[in-house]
Amino acid sequence: MPARGKIPRPTIKRLSLYLRELEGRLTGGEHRINSRQLGKVLDLTDAQVRKDLAYFGQFGHPGIGYDVEELITALRRILGVDHRWRAVIVGAGNIGRALMSYGRLRRRGFDVVAIFDADPTLVGTRIAETTVQPVEHLAAVVRRSDARIGLIAVPAESAQAVADALMDAGVQGILNFAPARLTVAKDVAIVSVDLSVSLEQLAFSISLRDGLPGSTRADAGADTEPDDAR
Ligand code: NAI
Repeated sequence: MPARGKIPRPTIKRLSLYLRELEGRLTGGEHRINSRQLGKVLDLTDAQVRKDLAYFGQFGHPGIGYDVEELITALRRILGVDHRWRAVIVGAGNIGRALMSYGRLRRRGFDVVAIFDADPTLVGTRIAETTVQPVEHLAAVVRRSDARIGLIAVPAESAQAVADALMDAGVQGILNFAPARLTVAKDVAIVSVDLSVSLEQLAFSISLRDGLPGSTRADAGADTEPDDAR
């Protein structure tokens, strides 16, 4: 597999979209698909689909297409979701509670094993059958449970300290919901989620369709979804 840094982030996002589409098709009883069909439903060209997959090897056969089950297995392996991941959440406020109660995480292979908060009035309360623990327990719980992922759902001003504590405890990946640019060790992966960025991209797409100053509707049609939005 190529080095992580060599693969464009939009490609990785699209792999998840391919996987979801393929899983849906398999459930619907479809066992073969070609890059044109896969691209069409996701509003991509067949060349884009082939280019994305080519980063990871040779898949499918010219003129025949892909075996849906085989491609699902390959994509799960590439994305690292062919096994379960343990994760912890720091911050038991609105976002932390919503994440803890989001059953789809478990269905997609992510087991949230613990949630922590610094507020003593929240410690001991229960969310989705899990008891909120004091942050002081973070390191011991992460090590004991072998959690490799930490989700940060604290205010921006606390986010770096929480990231540092998660890294000290041994997590290898951080999903950050706080609006803060975090510094992490080289061997720790970080993904930040910001709904306002998604909304801005949506607003941009609508603006393009309406015609930006200096653009034509034909320009807009050529690229209505920014690459990074996928
Ligand atoms: P909240 O105020 O409801 O919850 C934050 C929780 O973090 C509180 O329970 C607080 O006691 C706890 N906390 C603070 N410092 C801590 C520390 N050092 N260690 C452990 N716990 C600590 O906030 P909410 O609404 O849940 O938002 C959480 C974060 O997510 C904020 O940074 C907010 O700006 C951000 N946010 C991000 C969105 C996104 O699209 N990514 C959308 C909405 C909010």
